[in-house]
Amino acid sequence: MPAVYALVAAAGSGSRLGFDQPKAFVELAGRTLLERALDGLARSEVIDHAIILVSPDMRETAEKLIQQDFNRASWAGMAVSVTLGGGERMDSVWAGLEELARREVPEDSLVAVHDAARCMTPPEMIARVVDSARYGAKHQAWSGSVPVVPVVDTIKVVDQARAGSADGEILLEQTPARDTLRAAQTPQVFRLDELREANLEYLATVEISSAHASRNTGNQPLMTATDDASLMEMAGKKVTAVDGELLAMKITTPLDYRVATMLLADLEDTDKGTTEEG
Ligand code: C5P
Repeated sequence: MPAVYALVAAAGSGSRLGFDQPKAFVELAGRTLLERALDGLARSEVIDHAIILVSPDMRETAEKLIQQDFNRASWAGMAVSVTLGGGERMDSVWAGLEELARREVPEDSLVAVHDAARCMTPPEMIARVVDSARYGAKHQAWSGSVPVVPVVDTIKVVDQARAGSADGEILLEQTPARDTLRAAQTPQVFRLDELREANLEYLATVEISSAHASRNTGNQPLMTATDDASLMEMAGKKVTAVDGELLAMKITTPLDYRVATMLLADLEDTDKGTTEEG
């Protein structure tokens, strides 16, 4: 069976969270977001090797984390290593794909790209997404699987030129029908060769549009891919949706952090209750 590699994106600064250190290294109920994300991947029992993508200043901290006895025991069934990420999330993922190429990982392996910030993602959900991607690859039915949840808000498309303008005036342009919208989560799981191909195509477009922008006014917005499935879609590859979970929320703002703290306290109480009863 093809191996599954997780690329754990942890190189962001996470400035919106309001802590001094990068988000993945912030502690949530006594354990960093990164450690919690790795706990989930290990517990899913479907990941062979997790590669953590970090910024240069956090490399040593990450190396120390993975050497700790408690972590080594918690992640015993899964190899864990650390690699340098890049300036944007996509650059970090590309650095991870380059690391897999250096390791000469077989082309038909699966890659699960996961945000360290989604540190409460249930292991069963991770297994569900990997199973779906495995099925798609085996039957050549699709090239990847992505967890999604329905959106509760009505989403507006706004006038990009005006968004963030000094006078604060933003015009609403469109309202996509809410039942056609889903919020994408991680891990997003793809065949390695297909994801690499999609990234290469995307990188070529970025180069073309940057050259174009510098020849012209320099102010046309470049499309920044904020997840991996969007690159697959742009490359015309089939990606399927799998049920996500609200617990796979991305911890981004101070409010998310408070919600996560309360949820974890709740979950730990439930666990204790179950253990005491059992
Ligand atoms: O910024 P955002 O919350 O969308 O980041 C999602 C994930 O991507 C986070 O876990 C963050 O650490 C990671 N990231 C990264 N490299 C960057 C920027 C973000 O690995 N350059």
